[in-house]
Amino acid sequence: MAQKLANLLVSALTVATGVVGHGHVNNIIVNGVYYEGYDPTSFPYQPNPPIVVGWTAADTDNGFVSPDAYQSPDIICHKNATNARGHASVKAGDSVLFQWVPVPWPHPGPVLDYLANCNGECETVDKTTLKFFKIDGIGLLSGANPGNWASDVLIANNNTWVVQIPEDLETGNYVLRHEIIALHSAEEADGAQNYPQCFNLAVTGTGSLQPTGVLATELYQESDPGILFNIYTSPLTHQQRHSSWQCQHWRDEQQNFNGAEINVIRHNQSQFFLYHHYVGTCWHRNSDLVCYNDRD
Ligand SMILES: *[C@@H]1O[C@H](CO)[C@@H](O)[C@H](O)[C@H]1NC(C)=O
Ligand SMILES: *[C@@H]1O[C@H](CO)[C@@H](O)[C@H](O)[C@H]1NC(C)=O
Repeated sequence: MAQKLANLLVSALTVATGVVGHGHVNNIIVNGVYYEGYDPTSFPYQPNPPIVVGWTAADTDNGFVSPDAYQSPDIICHKNATNARGHASVKAGDSVLFQWVPVPWPHPGPVLDYLANCNGECETVDKTTLKFFKIDGIGLLSGANPGNWASDVLIANNNTWVVQIPEDLETGNYVLRHEIIALHSAEEADGAQNYPQCFNLAVTGTGSLQPTGVLATELYQESDPGILFNIYTSPLTHQQRHSSWQCQHWRDEQQNFNGAEINVIRHNQSQFFLYHHYVGTCWHRNSDLVCYNDRD
């Protein structure tokens, strides 16, 4: 009976607040400068919404992109996204903070960040030409079933996430694609929920790093081992913070990375879990840095 009442109460609250999806990035902060994002829950209803650094998208319900849309343009920068009309100025090496609303984020899952060079103005670039490379990707941090996920770090930081723009990134205009993947229903086909959020950055730097990327429509597949799985029962291995561009860097230079012994290990889903297939990935396994490149 108590459980029934609790369920009823939850339904009532859900109806009352009209919650369907789970959020968007309200703003970013770079070097103490606040840049407003695109608010999909209010801007569509304003006659003259402000010019912001966040891409326009049709997620008026604060909702998500489903795995069955991974090969559609909606996965690039969310549903029916169109270019942001503004951009934030960033120096290579700066950190970007994302503020998600509403607080708190409700679901476990990874947090990922990608960049794509616009090769021109991001305000007018054709989004279907953008090639993304990952600069940050965190999944499971400790424990299992469900364990402690990147999303828990975000929640503990009042729904914020910080990513560093690579220090040696080449000067240029980039789309920063920040994404949470909610996995609470991922055991069902098309049960994972992707929340991609895009921002225009004008990056200045002295470096020459230009990683190759892939089209967003090639990032994920519906049945990927980190997308279709039961977070509450499946065996997991830990994944720590890594930067794929460092991996790329190492591969380019054929040097050891940070003096650590590096094992380049081919695709092995049973041993190495989660996101190894996302566009060049490195992470620590025991004391080794393990690197993959794309879908080896
Ligand atoms: C996206 O655009 C298409 C074509 O105009 C439209 O049918 C669809 O309803 C739009 N999606 C959303 C979520 O607004
Ligand atoms: C947490 O984030 C919300 C939403 O941006 C903000 O209103 C609130 O002041 C923040 N709380 C703290 C303690 O920073």
